[in-house]
Amino acid sequence: MFHSPIVPRVRKRSRAAEVGIPGREEVKFEDVRLFLVERKMGRSRRSFLTQLARSKGFIVEDVLSDVVTHVVSEDIHTSSLWTWLKECDLKNLTHMLVLDISWFTDSMREGRPVAVETKHLIQDTLPEASTPTAVVSVSQYACQRRTTTENNNKTFTDAFEVLAERYELNEIEGPCLAFRRAASVLKSLPWAVRSLGATQDLPCLGEHTKSVMEEILQNGRSFEVERILSDERFQTLKLFTSVFGVGPKTADKWYRRGLRSFNDVLADSSIQLNRMQQSGFLHYEDISRAVSKAEARALRNIIDKAVHAITPDAVLALTGGFRRGKEFGHDVDFIVTTPEPGEEETLIPKVINRLTKQGILLYTEYQASTFDMSKLPCHRFEAMDHFAKCFLILRLEGSQVEGGLHIAEGDSRGWRAVRVDLVAPPMDRYAFALLGWTGSRQFERDLRRYARMERQMLLDNHALYDKTKKELLAATTEKDIFAHLGLEYIEPWQRNA
Ligand code: UTP
Ligand code: MG
Repeated sequence: MFHSPIVPRVRKRSRAAEVGIPGREEVKFEDVRLFLVERKMGRSRRSFLTQLARSKGFIVEDVLSDVVTHVVSEDIHTSSLWTWLKECDLKNLTHMLVLDISWFTDSMREGRPVAVETKHLIQDTLPEASTPTAVVSVSQYACQRRTTTENNNKTFTDAFEVLAERYELNEIEGPCLAFRRAASVLKSLPWAVRSLGATQDLPCLGEHTKSVMEEILQNGRSFEVERILSDERFQTLKLFTSVFGVGPKTADKWYRRGLRSFNDVLADSSIQLNRMQQSGFLHYEDISRAVSKAEARALRNIIDKAVHAITPDAVLALTGGFRRGKEFGHDVDFIVTTPEPGEEETLIPKVINRLTKQGILLYTEYQASTFDMSKLPCHRFEAMDHFAKCFLILRLEGSQVEGGLHIAEGDSRGWRAVRVDLVAPPMDRYAFALLGWTGSRQFERDLRRYARMERQMLLDNHALYDKTKKELLAATTEKDIFAHLGLEYIEPWQRNA
């Protein structure tokens, strides 16, 4: 243990001279940016400790800003320190480690940033602005929470997503859903979790999730997540499944065959890529690049013209993530319908025809409708609905996008490929399809779970069935469906669960 004060006062001058000119020292720890709080420490001691740390390769910031990762204080009055920190109006306070001087002295002694332990942490004991009341009312169902695109707990939810993906790739459903549910709860919070204590009344946080959170609160990262991210199988399966048309099963088959890269796959003559996968590889760079809101709007104009040229009274809606207000998405989703019953079934082939003539259709997979009203309700939930739909890759010209394309620097083609999904339900199923395709996936999962568990109803993209009354409930708007379920209406931009 390092018992003595960091440097005896008498040695102050000589040690200060040893540490050299501030700002000239070699930086050894790029990821750690310290800030020493002057309160209680005093200006001259702070200046001395700053130079000492810099001489050992640490970055010490003069000003407290969002780049700081470690705040070090000698203030033993936790509440006054935290009050001051909160008044500093930082965006990133939740990601900062607020540490006692003992962490600093341990680190100076070791000549490197030592692992943060609970004993080093100065925990926030102040009641958080909206924590206590908000916590009590957090529902276990995402459809009873309002979740915008602003995520105050990204460090935790990103880690949970990696853990969920690991289970998903191994086809282990339970823990995968548990991590997705936990992430969804944290995403809905209007405040950032700064201590495990603040999570005690939150639903859906199990032992495993809490231990990951504790690790992140203490060390700023999760070693389990880092292990997964550096795992060869995980990396390869993520790479392979990032290709349009390649699912976890195919990715695993390729991995077990010893393939590790796209070149390996493309060079293996025994692999027969299907049409979707061939397009996936052909347009990989474009499709794996996020689609911007401006690009989604430009595509809406294209589809809108096509649809209305065919059926003037057609209804077209942008759905999926863009309807929820996301700035970027992996594809652009549309729902189209017509008031004339049955006409919606012929609409998509006609749209495809028109896009082909325009020369902008790079890939299409059309699925004719298998929807049959007399077979409702579907008692088993199916991921895919039975409406007519198509999965497209379209060529989008830069000239059609306000502000230009979202493409790599130096890409001078003037166009890019974009994934587009189009689904065409009959008009009387429109509200159900719109609700189902708006997402998020977690929001949809919980809507269906809520309907089943709390209302004895079955909900899917086609219909809502009341098991008690043994009848299908009609709806022309999403609000009708929420009302049938006895739920407060949640706006699309609040469904980013
Ligand atoms: P997406 O996969 O497009 O997700 O499905 P997203 O929320 O728009 O996110 P990004 O931005 O593209 O990544 C949109 C919604 O459509 C539903 C999904 O459940 C999701 O909520 N969906 C998708 C279906 O209901 N059926 C399908 O066949 C595909
Ligand atoms: Mg989408």
